[in-house]
Amino acid sequence: MPEDINPWSNHRAVDTEKVFSEFGIEPIGPLVDRIPDPPAFFRRGIVVGHRDYDRIVDAMVHHTPFHVLSGFMPSGHPHLGHLLVMQEIVWHVQRGGCGYVAIADREAHAVRNISWEKCREYAAEYLRCLYALGFQGTTYAQSTNGVLKDLAFEAATRVNFSDLSAIYGFSQETGLAHAMSVITQVADILYPQVDAGPAPTIVPVGIDQDPHIRLTRDVAHKMRMFTVEQREGYVSVRSKNAPPEALNAIHRTYAGSKKYEGHVDIRGVALDAVKDRVRCIEREFGGYGFFTPSSTYHTFMPGLQGGKMSSSIPESSFGFDEPEKDIKKKVMSALTGGRVSLEEQTRLGGEPDRCPAFLLNLFFMVDDDAELEEIRRACLAGDLMCGACKKETFERVKEFLQEFHEKMDEVEHLVEV
Ligand code: TRP
Repeated sequence: MPEDINPWSNHRAVDTEKVFSEFGIEPIGPLVDRIPDPPAFFRRGIVVGHRDYDRIVDAMVHHTPFHVLSGFMPSGHPHLGHLLVMQEIVWHVQRGGCGYVAIADREAHAVRNISWEKCREYAAEYLRCLYALGFQGTTYAQSTNGVLKDLAFEAATRVNFSDLSAIYGFSQETGLAHAMSVITQVADILYPQVDAGPAPTIVPVGIDQDPHIRLTRDVAHKMRMFTVEQREGYVSVRSKNAPPEALNAIHRTYAGSKKYEGHVDIRGVALDAVKDRVRCIEREFGGYGFFTPSSTYHTFMPGLQGGKMSSSIPESSFGFDEPEKDIKKKVMSALTGGRVSLEEQTRLGGEPDRCPAFLLNLFFMVDDDAELEEIRRACLAGDLMCGACKKETFERVKEFLQEFHEKMDEVEHLVEV
């Protein structure tokens, strides 16, 4: 059912395994060993799945170019629920990625009815957080990026209404601007390759965004002039919609290649070398030469109160600019995996893996694996009671926020919207 992972739905309780097998998302597990010095979100199963992330691991390991992009809808203040993607972007930049952040103000305006004025205010807050976390690279708002809007229009030539209804469940009542915000997101994901040249692109997102990723991968493929495939003993370059001169150029590049109606066959050359060359020729003839973008999918931290985390449920999360006493109250009244009585908890131990307070530590507040393991052990053994644990957790939150605020002050001047 396409509704299962509709990006705008309120319930984020998706059955990951079912979605994975249904839509062909790969589990991240086998790749984690290849990631040098993996951060917590890879070590702890926070990122669960991917599409073509191998390509990004290769680029990181071999120090070849790659891009990283994600987007934020400025429909409210940034809060805990946005932190992970921000960290993922920054980490990839630190590993050599060329960084991009899209402010999805078109989406916020079209889908959430947020005024442009408010969009600008919220956008500044997101950017301040990102720079404070160490982001370097390009940021833009969808509504003011002309190249992006042209790219969205070009991408729109490859998408029809039945694609949109199949992917998103759009109906006769869906607003045209909503459809436009979808194609703008497609353009966001392809934008780094237009701005800085074709390269593998990683888009870290929550699993709810996968429909956009699927659509973009399809569009990226359709926008290519050629497909390049390994055949028995030769590489075949097939024109999808290339100008005839572009196919001739490929033929001329490889002495001894054979040109047929709509394709050129090349012997004695490695597939990857041909792919690179074809991409260059495609660009020379006005094409895009896109790499199909890669993605990773993370799970969501539950809300502090136990339900889902959402800006529309204030007690489920905290914003980074909220007064300390309010944040303290939220952390101290978080739901825990504790038992009904102290006696029972001492006897049976707590249940850390379904405890929002523990997960707050696991996601964000405790970087050291041994320290986290000790918290889990003490909880399971009934040595650590919820009150004490939450108090310690709040101390970590406090320290985290102090540092975050100092950094935000330092980077204020970088924020431009
Ligand atoms: N739709 C995303 C959200 O709801 C925001 C977004 C816009 C985005 N453009 C993007 C995410 C590009 C990833 C890549 O949060």
